[in-house]
Amino acid sequence: MRDLADDALVAEIRAAYAGSAQGWACGPERLYQIMADALVAGATGALTGRRVLDLGAGTGVASRALQAVGATPVGLDLAVEMLAHDREQRPPGVAGDAQQLPFRDDGFDAVVAAFSLNHVPDLLGALAECRRVLRGHGLLLASTFRTGDDHPAKAVVEGVLERFGYRRPAWYGTFKARVAGLTGDPDNLVCTARDAGFATAEVAAVPVEAGLDDPHRAVEWRLNMPHTLAFVAGLERPMQDRLRRVAIRELTGPLPSTVWMLVLRATAP
Ligand SMILES: C[S@@+](CC[C@H](N)C(=O)[O-])C[C@H]1O[C@@H](n2cnc3c(N)ncnc32)[C@H](O)[C@@H]1O
Repeated sequence: MRDLADDALVAEIRAAYAGSAQGWACGPERLYQIMADALVAGATGALTGRRVLDLGAGTGVASRALQAVGATPVGLDLAVEMLAHDREQRPPGVAGDAQQLPFRDDGFDAVVAAFSLNHVPDLLGALAECRRVLRGHGLLLASTFRTGDDHPAKAVVEGVLERFGYRRPAWYGTFKARVAGLTGDPDNLVCTARDAGFATAEVAAVPVEAGLDDPHRAVEWRLNMPHTLAFVAGLERPMQDRLRRVAIRELTGPLPSTVWMLVLRATAP
């Protein structure tokens, strides 16, 4: 059930991503492209030649992966600014909310949601919308992070940011406390997909080799997130450089290269 607090949170998430398209493309996109490639590679047979909704398309990583296997994606994102990135090279995109999709029933063969359902306060409503826009036996493929499976760079870089004066934006605290966990629990994902009307639903934990043992990559990932980018951009250049140096120095030591993603695979009746 959506309420006003949910709507306010969605508006804040929209605003944060609206201001982050350029930063996303310079930092997190590299990691998310690798994860989108792995997500799509796990289901090419069901995607090649199909019309696919790229839900929460962002700067287009899943659309690229889908085009590479011969699918025909259509992007949807809350933030039109994310869809505008690299516009000329991308398939059609529509601004909208996953909780209320602006598409007719049965219009897609598949929905691919790469790390977007984990932003949605009304998970049941969004999954029901995914099912509604899928044709019979259509496939939903969604990636999320498992709660507690955090790469150590997250805490280390946030600790360094705090020493430079950073405080988590209020929307990000609410998002972590109220929303992200809904998709971080495999059992909850499966049950909610079933409640939303999917005929089958299963979740697998998939390791993705992401090169995050390189501290430079890990730092660029964390400093260009929607909840950190505005703070970093507000620092003067020498201070930004110092922040980067300190964060990289504190990340030395063995870092895991691999990230784990949860993949929900559900089929419409
Ligand atoms: C973590 S990013 C992932 C982007 C892209 N799929 C990728 O893997 O790089 C989450 C994306 O979901 C979008 N998003 C967040 N909430 C949404 C909602 N309620 N409806 C549609 N898109 C949403 C954001 O604007 C953002 O582009």
